[in-house]
Amino acid sequence: MTIKIAKRGQVPPFIAMDVLRAANERAAAGDDVLHLEVGQPSTPAPAAVLAAARQALGRQTLGYTDALGLPALREAIAGHYRERYGVALDPSRVVVTTGSSGAFLLAFLAAFEHGERVALAAPAYPAYRNILTALDLVPIELTAGPEHRFQATLDVLRPQGQGIDGLIVASPANPTGTMLAPDELAAIVRHCRDMGIRLVSDEIYHGIVYSVTATTALSSGDEAFVINSFSKYFSMTGWRLGWMVVPEDMLRAIECLAQNLFISPPALSQHAALAAFACRDELDANVARYARNRALLLDELPKAGISRFAPADGAFYLYADVAHLTNDSPEFCRRMLREIGVACTPGTDFDPTRGNATLRLSFAGTTDAMVEAARRLKAWRR
Ligand SMILES: Cc1ncc(COP(=O)(O)O)c(C=O)c1O
Repeated sequence: MTIKIAKRGQVPPFIAMDVLRAANERAAAGDDVLHLEVGQPSTPAPAAVLAAARQALGRQTLGYTDALGLPALREAIAGHYRERYGVALDPSRVVVTTGSSGAFLLAFLAAFEHGERVALAAPAYPAYRNILTALDLVPIELTAGPEHRFQATLDVLRPQGQGIDGLIVASPANPTGTMLAPDELAAIVRHCRDMGIRLVSDEIYHGIVYSVTATTALSSGDEAFVINSFSKYFSMTGWRLGWMVVPEDMLRAIECLAQNLFISPPALSQHAALAAFACRDELDANVARYARNRALLLDELPKAGISRFAPADGAFYLYADVAHLTNDSPEFCRRMLREIGVACTPGTDFDPTRGNATLRLSFAGTTDAMVEAARRLKAWRR
């Protein structure tokens, strides 16, 4: 007798990760592959973080920590809000998680009942949609075009009225890199408060910005879940560590969920991350490299016929409209990988409806890799 597979466990793939696997397979077979598909820094964790990890290996038992994280790390994170944003935050509201991915799971479980509707802009980071679906929640994708900087601005949001229970915003966003201006974010926080909508603000790309300053939703109130991570600016992707600032009244619910789902975030990563906030110089040097990579691609890609980009205010992506080149971005990306060894992610990962005509290129790698990718693309498109 066949035993069923639960429908809720059958979410679509995270296509960028599928492309990464295909790219790694080609590299293992001897191809010279350039990774513009995956959103991770090509640098290790900062030197002081590595030193703290070595020290923790020698000195700490590295058992379970508090389910909400090491008290010293929660304090350091609260200090980060004071220094970076001038926001006074009680460390008791900081929850350390296994990447921001763990934070989404906890926040969605604590905030929403089965079948509730959670809005997000399309295009967006695909795991929002797929985690919501896996939890029997209903993602409501709000089509946001260039006129809204691909963001769920108030204009995009208002027609939903009270028909939504939650909203996810990200600024800078993945895949577009676009940002919400501080007053727009504040207006969204107010709108959500007035309408009884639970806001989740994904601030994972804060620190990686090129023009607009990033503000936190915490500056406008305490009702939102504010999510962040050590994966991007802090260059600690594989350490699987993130955090979330939680509304006061939801703390105990989050703690009980975290105890049961994860027991605790990874101990070694937490001890190491204690050193991360003192590494600004090294981390800002990474951001300077992203800025150079971004400028280089914005200059060179038009020579390969790729010239229509979302305004990449932050993060390390270019989201390109390639409707004049293809209406099948997954096949276009497969060909690009096969023929010139450049891996990039089809827009269908981020926008199943319109993504057939878009691509996301990550410029988180080395500048040499960007120079070579541009050279290969120009030769390919000639
Ligand atoms: C917008 C956004 N949020 C969250 C994540 C998840 O990151 P992590 O779980 O490594 O913190 C990513 C990863 O690429 C992302 O782009």
